[in-house]
Amino acid sequence: PLRSVVLGCGAYLPSRIVTNEELAAKVDTSDEWIVQRTGIRQRHVAAEGEFTSDLALAAARKAIGHAGITVDELDLVIVATATPDNTFPATATKVQHKLGMKRGFAFDVQAVCSGFVYALGVADSFIKTGQAKTALVIGAETFSRILDWNDRQTCVLFGDGAGAVVLRGEETAERGILSTHLHSEGEHYELLHVDGGPSSTGTVGHLRMEGRKVFVHAVQRLAEVVDEALAAQKLTARDIDWLVPHQANKRIIDGVGKKLALDPRQVVVTVDRHANTSAASIPLALAEAVHDGRIKRGDLVLLEAMGGGFTWGSALVRW
Ligand code: ACO
Repeated sequence: PLRSVVLGCGAYLPSRIVTNEELAAKVDTSDEWIVQRTGIRQRHVAAEGEFTSDLALAAARKAIGHAGITVDELDLVIVATATPDNTFPATATKVQHKLGMKRGFAFDVQAVCSGFVYALGVADSFIKTGQAKTALVIGAETFSRILDWNDRQTCVLFGDGAGAVVLRGEETAERGILSTHLHSEGEHYELLHVDGGPSSTGTVGHLRMEGRKVFVHAVQRLAEVVDEALAAQKLTARDIDWLVPHQANKRIIDGVGKKLALDPRQVVVTVDRHANTSAASIPLALAEAVHDGRIKRGDLVLLEAMGGGFTWGSALVRW
């Protein structure tokens, strides 16, 4: 069959690190509270003048280098982001330009923290229908720009970063994206949203979240969508080599790992150092585990994410 094979991956984090202690000096919180409830110890924050497209570009260049291709080979660029540089045009078109691409097509996908899994599904469909052969899929965010830095319930949870993969259509039964499974449920808008936008307020707005309610939904929906992925491929949890979850909260990650009865060493965790980087978290975690030698050719990798919307989804990839 024609499959979207992962040729390479890369990641980028802004150099500035903000520790929990640093936040505790500004809002009424503590390292102990944040670590206990979330597993987060620090996050990276983009510099002034450093935009989502800059993070995306840096991750993209690394993924292209790792894939061993040239930019001329790319047909498609998708950036999954909820924090674009501008309302329009798409951040992906900026990345396309900065890469020096003169052809192909580029657009953004907006599914907040599920954005990377959504973008993978979209790219996979374009590849399978023959509309693109080689695709660059990026998750890139600057959530620091939409946080209310006076709200301790949300400002401690997020960070900035970017990750990218290069996909290519190949006739192979050996590897590639096996399937993606996407869902959304708009009725939960109030539980996780940004209270601004071009059409509603004309302002950018700030992230608002009812954390406890989001937590309950996340645990349930993620359990369903990992089961759905395994059942679709007639696989069981024992077939999984690596779980690469969206990195929102260590307790949610552990919950899914336990449900699948995975050894904790099979679960890729970056939330302690990156916090929640929304659409960037999965490709950041993937790049780390591939480049440090954990994820190897032939391994079965399960990706899952849940985010604002609500949106949620999973992908099974034979590396
Ligand atoms: N520091 C200290 N105390 C705090 C902080 C903080 N940063 N934040 C909240 N508190 C206090 C609250 O005010 C509350 O105090 P009270 O009991 O006196 O009222 C107490 O801590 C408990 O607050 P809860 O919100 O009930 O704490 P909970 O155990 O639920 O943990 C958390 C909060 C970490 C947000 C958790 O609910 C969670 O992780 N939810 C999921 C959120 C998530 O993953 N969101 C991302 C989804 S993906 C996306 O699309 C963005």
